[in-house]
Amino acid sequence: MSNYHIKHLEEYYQVYRKSVREPENFWAEVAEEHFIWRKKWNNVLSWDFRKPEIKWFEGAKLNITENCIDRHLRTKGDKTAIIFEPNNPDEVAQYITYNDLYDRVCKMANVLKEQGVKKGDRVCIYLPMIPELAVSLLACARIGAIHSVVFAGFSSKALATRINDSECKFVIASDGSYRGSKSIDLKGIVDEALEQCPCVQTVLVVKRVHSEVTMKAGRDIWLQPLLDNASGDCVPEIMDAEDPLFILYTSGSTGKPKGMVHTTAGYMVYTAYTFKNVFQYKDDDVYWCTADIGWITGHSYIVYGPLANGATTVMFEGVPHYPDFGRFWQIVDKHKINQFYTAPTAIRALAKQNISFAEAQDLSSLRVLGSVGEPINEEAWHWYNDIIGKKKSPIVDTWWQTETGGIMITPIPFVTPTKPTYATLPFIGIQPALMDENGEEIKGNQVDGRLCIKFPWPSIARTIWGDHQRYKDTYFSAFDNKYFTGDGALRDEVGYYRITGRVDDVIIVSGHNLGTAPIEDAINEHPAVAESAIVGFPHDIKGNALYGYVILKETGEGRDHNNLRNEINQIITEHVGPIAKLDKIQFTSGLPKTRSGKIMRRILRKIACKDINNLGDTSTLLNPEVVQEIIDNAL
Ligand code: WT7
Repeated sequence: MSNYHIKHLEEYYQVYRKSVREPENFWAEVAEEHFIWRKKWNNVLSWDFRKPEIKWFEGAKLNITENCIDRHLRTKGDKTAIIFEPNNPDEVAQYITYNDLYDRVCKMANVLKEQGVKKGDRVCIYLPMIPELAVSLLACARIGAIHSVVFAGFSSKALATRINDSECKFVIASDGSYRGSKSIDLKGIVDEALEQCPCVQTVLVVKRVHSEVTMKAGRDIWLQPLLDNASGDCVPEIMDAEDPLFILYTSGSTGKPKGMVHTTAGYMVYTAYTFKNVFQYKDDDVYWCTADIGWITGHSYIVYGPLANGATTVMFEGVPHYPDFGRFWQIVDKHKINQFYTAPTAIRALAKQNISFAEAQDLSSLRVLGSVGEPINEEAWHWYNDIIGKKKSPIVDTWWQTETGGIMITPIPFVTPTKPTYATLPFIGIQPALMDENGEEIKGNQVDGRLCIKFPWPSIARTIWGDHQRYKDTYFSAFDNKYFTGDGALRDEVGYYRITGRVDDVIIVSGHNLGTAPIEDAINEHPAVAESAIVGFPHDIKGNALYGYVILKETGEGRDHNNLRNEINQIITEHVGPIAKLDKIQFTSGLPKTRSGKIMRRILRKIACKDINNLGDTSTLLNPEVVQEIIDNAL
């Protein structure tokens, strides 16, 4: 028995030990017993972090959609696979059974094939949280095309960069999207992006908001009529274990976004296994993850992980505050949600509202509460635990990353005793290490350091699309023979981990991972701006907000500062997206720099956080006098 489902703490330790001592046997058993393979692997694992090269289940052949859909049809064809809850609560919810999902995915797959999409082609998906989004991912996987989902809150420039980076020939988009009381002209954003994307041949357009859009002849096609004429059966493309399944972009601390490449078999096995255990999913449960499928959380824990387990997974199109701040709790009550998975930023926003929003609804169906995306602070943890979970639904604070594909450090509910703000123990198969500045592993408990992983797990990203060197430099060069996460962490007296936050120039705003460089590049596009630096500072709801220090050119000096601030945020919106707007912009005559010309962000960060009493040694700066000026004018 492979211990697919862990039910008590002793079992956790026993299975964990096995997964570390005999990782190949362990994962082979999980893979063999719980998935369908067209051909078994020749080799469970080969790896070399120094190259880096990682291969799981080499030689195996499979199609992930057979595992997520076809195999459930015999026993669960009429079970709801996806519940679609629309933005507007007056619009009826859709209950898509596994039979329906099979039909919809096959039709979409056939449409893609007719349009010329071939195995290995990249398909960009730019859609709101509507069923066609999940169906598009699965349709690509059905025919072996590599999907690249771009979150539909990204700007046209960000979309164009991502389309060009992986040379997508096809885009699936919609006329628009609903977001609370607003609707957004997504097609307009796509049109603007595609002016810079010569690689795109075809855009398939879903009708969602029924707005007037321009359809470019020879390029844009309405999807529905094609689906109406497509066959509801599509023979799956048989894929190799290590064939890419998708690309998903994540921001780095420097340069352009990194297209993380996830492959088929290992990703499937790990996301399915973690889903089952981290949420203790049982057959009749209804599971809801509030993330957008545009992020890895949605890929792994709305689509692939749940469907591989034959689960019922909810897709919510809307936002937590529409029509009012009770919406999440109404949905929990309406669909009798058993597992609820959200982000600390949402928890903090909801905790600020009148408690009656939560109390008005019956939340007794809830059994497991999840948190992901950033450290959850003590106050938010307790509110979630007490008000939403009534102290009887364990909180799983799940630490992981786009790059890890699946959850890495987490409690297992009803198994691991929880501790506020702690992600607790490594999941089965995960071997964390804390490292010091000299590259040595820090052993023992009650220590802190940089969080690395010592051994591969099945869903680790295999490369950065088109730039393997950058993959090596970013993740495998800071510490020899280890995957470096970019996070700091501490390990307490019993071996529980608490993630303390990024140690690089990535700032997490409302759970969105933002690199400083692309935002600074955008600011510097403003004709009046000479130079800029951004840092994060604590924010009640967003976790962190952005603080920008901007040096103006002479031409900008006489200008109205508030107008400039608006213009700068406008440029950021265009280049990166509204998520990256600055909360505070301080104009300054200089930025503190080292003698080698590197901006000392540490000092700027402290000033933004109003922590000016221990700025450390500033005497070695090239321009120490600027520090006082910045302090005097701080916002
Ligand atoms: C970064 C990865 C993986 C899903 C969403 C984010 C931070 C994520 C936690 C947590 C503390 C967390 C880390 C990580 N993070 N979950 N439970 N506690 N920090 O994916 O955009 O790739 O961001 O999010 O800093 O490195 P991502």
